Amino acid sequence: MITGKFPNLRLRRSRKCDWSRRLIEENNLTPNDFILPLFLIEGKNKKQTIKSMPGVYRYTLDKITHVIDKAIQKGLPMIALFPYIEKNKKNNLGTEALNENNLVCKAIRLIKKRYKNEIGIMCDVALDPYTSHGHDGLIKSSNILNDETIEILINQSLLQAEMGCDVLAPSDMMDGRIGEIRKSLDKKGFKMTQILSYAVKYASNFYGPFRDAVGSKDLLKGNKKTYQMDFRNSNEALREVALDIKEGADMVMVKPGLPYLDIIRVVKDNFKIPVMAYQVSGEYSLLENGIKEKIINENVILESLISFKRAGANAIVSYYADKLDKILK
Ligand code: PBG
Repeated sequence: MITGKFPNLRLRRSRKCDWSRRLIEENNLTPNDFILPLFLIEGKNKKQTIKSMPGVYRYTLDKITHVIDKAIQKGLPMIALFPYIEKNKKNNLGTEALNENNLVCKAIRLIKKRYKNEIGIMCDVALDPYTSHGHDGLIKSSNILNDETIEILINQSLLQAEMGCDVLAPSDMMDGRIGEIRKSLDKKGFKMTQILSYAVKYASNFYGPFRDAVGSKDLLKGNKKTYQMDFRNSNEALREVALDIKEGADMVMVKPGLPYLDIIRVVKDNFKIPVMAYQVSGEYSLLENGIKEKIINENVILESLISFKRAGANAIVSYYADKLDKILK
């Protein structure tokens, strides 16, 4: 027997039994930590598969209530609405975004009427589902116009707020839009409508399946690098967040998720503000396909989701949010 060779402190003591591991756990997840993204389509009685996102569907409005019933029953605090817009409704200016009978507006009215404040509704503020070029803003000789885009985003925000949207989530990355949207909301009496700024949104290659889901993938000309952040940068993320907080953001988002845990941590350490993480479509589909092919087992889902909490996220936008029964068991 060798004695004295090892330290008297053995961290494995506290890992020996399950009860002990549970006792000292530092992070955990509950349904309160999740926001469920929902893809909407026009029509009736449809639940459409999305080829690049196994297990995720587009729903017509008559089918969506079933999903929301379940979300409420499970205790999810919020859903995020994303419309699949028919090609013939898209144009250069994204004018469908300002149609009070567009898919998102109809959905907000229906959900608010039926569920009141039982669950929060979050809506993207950006033009990409509505533009024929797939960009988040107006375009002029391949330049995405900042200030002109903001004018439209203000109107899109006011419209969605008027319909009953609880949380506006500008995901467009135009400079100065949070302040302008906040001012306009307050002026028009929407003082209590929250803003969740996609403050730190990278020009990421992980968004592919989402663009497929909302039907902008084949339309997108070029890339979004002149407005979304360069993935080589992290100090810049702090400047983005600082600006948006000053302009009136209630919460900020870091997006994508898993490759950007370092960013979640620095944002959380530097600003004491609710930080949301977006586990984006590409991350979801990679995990799902890996599990399906039996390359990894399904426990990778919980492990990935916990990492967001460990990094300091308050909540996670995740396509797993309606599948938590199995994951959090
Ligand atoms: C659009 C938007 C995107 C996502 C959410 N809102 C894609 C993009 O910026 O091209 C991506 C979400 C995901 O990949 O799950 N403004």
